[in-house]
Amino acid sequence: MRLLTLGSPADTLKEVVLAGLAAQPKRIPPKYFYDREGSRLFEAICRQPEYYLTRAETALLLTEADSIARCIGPVALMIEPGAGCCAKARMLLGPLKAAAYWPVDIDGETLLAATGRLADELPALDVVAVQHDFTAAEGFAPLLPHLPQNGRRLVYYPGSSIGNAGPDEAVGLLKQFRALAGADGGLLIGFDLKKEATRLHAAYNDAAGVTAAFNLNLLARLNRELGADFRLETFAHHAFYNAEDGRIEMHLVSRMRQQVQVAGATVRFEAGESLHTENSYKYAPQEFEALAARAGFVFRQGWQDSEGLFAVQFYE
Ligand code: AVI
Repeated sequence: MRLLTLGSPADTLKEVVLAGLAAQPKRIPPKYFYDREGSRLFEAICRQPEYYLTRAETALLLTEADSIARCIGPVALMIEPGAGCCAKARMLLGPLKAAAYWPVDIDGETLLAATGRLADELPALDVVAVQHDFTAAEGFAPLLPHLPQNGRRLVYYPGSSIGNAGPDEAVGLLKQFRALAGADGGLLIGFDLKKEATRLHAAYNDAAGVTAAFNLNLLARLNRELGADFRLETFAHHAFYNAEDGRIEMHLVSRMRQQVQVAGATVRFEAGESLHTENSYKYAPQEFEALAARAGFVFRQGWQDSEGLFAVQFYE
């Protein structure tokens, strides 16, 4: 097992946050949720009874891993962007019999801990932990020259992470996956399916308040890292399904007219004004196929969990 650290991220938290808070409506990209505390809260979200996504995808992988591996065929290298703790790849690496696994994540510490465990479990697997922010301007370009040139590649993007990008941004990311996979490679991707709004609403408004804490932790992070003075009790978590755009929207709504200091700038909020923190797009299977086709992928096969909540699709 080895660690490959690629270039420093082009965007800094301070620049992106100040630009987002100066925009109208105010917004901050969801990648900034994931500091150590945010990653801990996200794992807690995945255990909430209302948040069906993780359980549905895991159940699907448990029952379909062999059928998925048969459909994909021989793979030399599996690349997993945003791998985190590598939990889902672990379920596929055995059936796929891939020789190498390259998880990519901005958080090198989490990656090293996860790949260390994986290397113990699968000693024959060649594991390269790639510490890299692929959401920065250069994307995967710094990784391409390092990739082994022999054998077929599979890009694995589970967890409905693709849903946190808008459709055009998602096509841009899928085009990058196309280049990573190479002409004879493939893409295995998981996404959340469209369903009744009440089910979606509950998943992003869990009774224990973990999603609210996850959303508000973004402000706590800005206090910690940018010396901002957000008073968390003056902002409310607001998540709802926007049926027209097919997405859950998460916002932090100011409970009062106020001003906040952020990295030397004064930011004004009206009472009821919102800071948009995340979109989570939901797709019908054919809608996603159309998106992937725009990036040059040809649909091969799709799977769903027994309740039809979540989908995994394979493309070449
Ligand atoms: C990481 N991503 C797929 C999650 C989602 O469902 O969009 C992030 C999340 N936001 C609130 N709850 C979970």
